[in-house]
Amino acid sequence: MKAAVMRANNAPLELEEVTIDAPGPGEVLLKTAASGICHSDLHVIEGSLPMPPPCILGHEPAGIVEAVGEGVTDFAEGDHVIGCLSSFCGTCRFCTAGRPYLCPTQYEGRPLGSQARLKDASGADLLQFANLSSFAEKMLCPERSLVKIRDDMPLDRAALIGCGVTTGLGAALNTVNIRAGDSVVIIGCGGVGLAALQGARITGAGKIIAVDAQPWKFDVARKLGATDCVDATDGDPVAAVQELTGGGANYVFECIGLVPTVQQAVAMTGRGGTTVLVGVVPITEMVPIAAADLTLQEKNVTGSYMGSNRFRFDMPNYVEFYLDGRLKLDEMISSRIALDGINDAFESMKKGEVARQVIVFD
Ligand SMILES: NC(=O)c1ccc[n+]([C@@H]2O[C@H](COP(=O)([O-])OP(=O)(O)OC[C@H]3O[C@@H](n4cnc5c(N)ncnc54)[C@H](O)[C@@H]3O)[C@@H](O)[C@H]2O)c1
Ligand SMILES: [Zn+2]
Ligand SMILES: [Zn+2]
Repeated sequence: MKAAVMRANNAPLELEEVTIDAPGPGEVLLKTAASGICHSDLHVIEGSLPMPPPCILGHEPAGIVEAVGEGVTDFAEGDHVIGCLSSFCGTCRFCTAGRPYLCPTQYEGRPLGSQARLKDASGADLLQFANLSSFAEKMLCPERSLVKIRDDMPLDRAALIGCGVTTGLGAALNTVNIRAGDSVVIIGCGGVGLAALQGARITGAGKIIAVDAQPWKFDVARKLGATDCVDATDGDPVAAVQELTGGGANYVFECIGLVPTVQQAVAMTGRGGTTVLVGVVPITEMVPIAAADLTLQEKNVTGSYMGSNRFRFDMPNYVEFYLDGRLKLDEMISSRIALDGINDAFESMKKGEVARQVIVFD
């Protein structure tokens, strides 16, 4: 099968013929139908999230089951599924306490000593990203990375739910408790931020302020529910938000992952409010913030990982939200591309020219 292989950091992905193993116990072989392109893939390419090459990236997929391994009972050939990197064991203290997205086993692949799921044409092992590797025509995944969805859900839009939508929507719906009328700021209107923005709209938030450095994104943001937009390149965005909210917002979602925008997020948060860190700051960087500000104004700062998901429960709901019109996914898709357009797609992402790009497989 064809796949885009990361051979080195900061270099174009290589389109190669690779091989994929047959499903082992508990595994499912899928035909990839579509894969969104998330900034976290770019973080890996740029080395700000560690993952040694050679590997196959891609972690926002939807697909169709082709075959199942021994003991798989949740899926059958022909099922339509979404893949999620929050693979869960079901028995650890995080899974049993209702926070399966923190399951430590999600980073494990096949048991040590087993053969690799993916190999290149020379027979050398290729690392699988997040048990998914969706920049490939097929995927071999643990069944607990997958959720079955309705057959009438279009798979190119279902793919978005695999990471970006679940991350952003879940940050608003699961990680924090936004009340109707609360003021909400979204910093960064990429796939993740636009989903958080929709989560704020779905909860009945009052002012929903979108902040981005690319003013063209505000057309999309307004269609998805933004009441106000702040151009981060035109004056001080913190002052603009303070003005719009009368002293700071109830919730500020940082959906970029940069040191200055994390600092802005805390500064935009009002007394008693909460800053939600959704963007991934490169792991080598620290963010200085004024601790006294947190104490004296009782501000909270929380991380939000993968939308605090219970994806087998959340994703079918998000599919319903799309089909009943509450969740807008068509507006989030800037372009549908073929796998061989992937390097151009990362260039467009770097320049901030796109909301979400989706690879569609034949
Ligand atoms: N927490 C999680 O579990 C999780 C999951 C998925 C992705 N992420 C992270 O979320 C972040 C966003 O991902 P994405 O795919 O939406 O990215 P993206 O590149 O599509 O969007 C980023 C947006 O930020 C804007 N931007 C960049 N610099 C800016 C600045 N200085 N001021 C204002 N706006 C600016 C861009 O114009 C763009 O609209 C990434 O860091 C990604 O790794 C986190
Ligand atoms: Zn992602
Ligand atoms: Zn677990």
